[in-house]
Amino acid sequence: MDRIAITGGAQLNGEIPISGAKNSAIKLMAASLLTDQPLRLTNMPRLADTKFLGKLLKRLGAAVDESDGADGAETVLHVPEIMSAIAPYDLVRQMRASFNVLGPLVARTGQAKVSLPGGCTIGARPVDLHLQALEALGAKIDLHEGYVFAQAPRGLKGAEITFPFVSVGATEHALLAAVIANGVTVLHNCACEPEIADLAECLNKMGAKVEGAGTPTITITGVAKLGGATYAVIPDRIEMGTYAVAAAMAGGEVRLTNSRPGLIDALLKKIEEAGAGVTETPDGVIIKRNGSRLNAVDVETGVYPGFATDLQAQFMSLMTTAKGESRIRETIFENRFMHVPELARLGADISVSGGEAVVRGVEQLEGAEVMATDLRASVSLVIAGLVARGETVVSRIYHLDRGFERLEEKLGNCGAQVRRIHGEPDEL
Ligand code: EPZ
Repeated sequence: MDRIAITGGAQLNGEIPISGAKNSAIKLMAASLLTDQPLRLTNMPRLADTKFLGKLLKRLGAAVDESDGADGAETVLHVPEIMSAIAPYDLVRQMRASFNVLGPLVARTGQAKVSLPGGCTIGARPVDLHLQALEALGAKIDLHEGYVFAQAPRGLKGAEITFPFVSVGATEHALLAAVIANGVTVLHNCACEPEIADLAECLNKMGAKVEGAGTPTITITGVAKLGGATYAVIPDRIEMGTYAVAAAMAGGEVRLTNSRPGLIDALLKKIEEAGAGVTETPDGVIIKRNGSRLNAVDVETGVYPGFATDLQAQFMSLMTTAKGESRIRETIFENRFMHVPELARLGADISVSGGEAVVRGVEQLEGAEVMATDLRASVSLVIAGLVARGETVVSRIYHLDRGFERLEEKLGNCGAQVRRIHGEPDEL
C-alpha cells in the first residue's frame, strides 16, 4: 500500500485551490436515485469515497459518467430505473455514508435492503435516528442478519419529526426520503451544516420544495416526481481548514482559493488567536505566519457553526509546537483521539482524559514512521510532518485518499517536501 513521506522544515508559500466538498458530493450523488433524469454535478472532488459510492450506485442501476468540463471535474449520474434496491455489506462497510441510499431507494421504489454500516475507528456511530425518521415517514423497518429491510409499498408519507439530538447524517437522510413523500414533512432540531443547505439547494433545483435547510427547522412539501439538474458542489470547508492549519504550522504565506472562509469562521478565529495572520479575500483566505512561535489556545468541537470535529486532529497537530498548554475537547465522537499516540511518536506531549486532550507544546517535533487511523487523523500527521526534523513516513494513507484530492501536489506546489511512496508494504 502507498505511504507518504514528508521532509520537515520547508515553509509553505503559494496558492492552494480548494476542491468540492466530499461530505456534500456523496449526499448529492445519492440524490440521483430520486429521479429518472440525469443529475450533473460540477466542482466534483475525485476521491476514493466518491468512487466507492459511484460503484454502489452503478450496482443499483446508475450510469455514472465522469469527465472534465468547463466548470472543472464533473459527474453525470443517471438512474432511469432502479435495477436493484439492495446495498450489500461489502460496499456499505467501505463507506458509512453509503447507508444514505436507503431513504431514496425506499422513497422511489417502495422497498430497499441496505446493510447496516457498523462502527468505525472514531466511534460506534449508530443509525437509530436515521431509522426512526424513516419509520416516522411510514416505512416499515425490519432488521435481519445485519441488513435493514425497509418497505413502503404505497409510498412514504409526510410527518413531523423531532430529532432527539443533532445529527448531520440523519437530517440529510430524512431530507432525501421526504422530498418525494406524500404531503408535508417538518424536521425539528436539524443539523445546520452547510452541506445540508447544499443538498437542499440541489434538490430544489431538481424540483423539490425544501425550506429552512441550514436552520434547525426544515419544511419539505413532497412532490410526485423530481427531474434532472446541473449543480455545483459547495467548496470543501474541511479541506480549506486543513490547509489553513498546515500554513499556520509550517509558516509562510498561503492563499486558499475557490472557497468560502465564512464556512470555517470558528477555526479561523482560533488560528488568529494563536498568532497567525488571517486575511479574507473574495474567493478564500490568506494565512500568513512569519517567525515567532504560535500561542496555545483551547478548542471545543461542536455542531455547526461551532468548531468542526473534522478539524480537531489537524488543530491538535498545530498545538503540538505552540507555546504553552492547549485543552482540546471532543464533544461529537467518543473515540476521536486515535492520532494522539501517533503524534506522540513524533515527540508531541499530549495526555488524554475522557473527551479532553491536554497538549503541552514542545519546541521541536522529530520525524518518525507513523500510521494513519482515519481520514482526518491521517492528515494531522502530514501537518505535523511539515515541521518535524527529518523525515516522517505516514502509512495506511488509503484513509487520506478517501477525502483529500491530490494532497501531495497541492502541498508540493507551495514548497512542501512531500512524496508518495507507491505500493510498498504497509505493515507486516
Ligand atoms: C458527518 O457524519 C460527517 N460525515 C462526518 O465527517 C462529521 O464528522 C460528522 O457529520 C459531524 O460533523 C459525512 O458527512 C459523510 P452525525 P455523521 O450523524 O452524519 C451520533 C469525515 O471525516 N449518532 O452528525 O455520521 C453519532 O454516533 C467524517 O469526513 C447516533 O447516535 O455524523 C455521533 O456521535 C467523519 N445515532 C453524533 O451522533 C444516529 O442515528 C453525530 O453524528 C446518528 C448519529
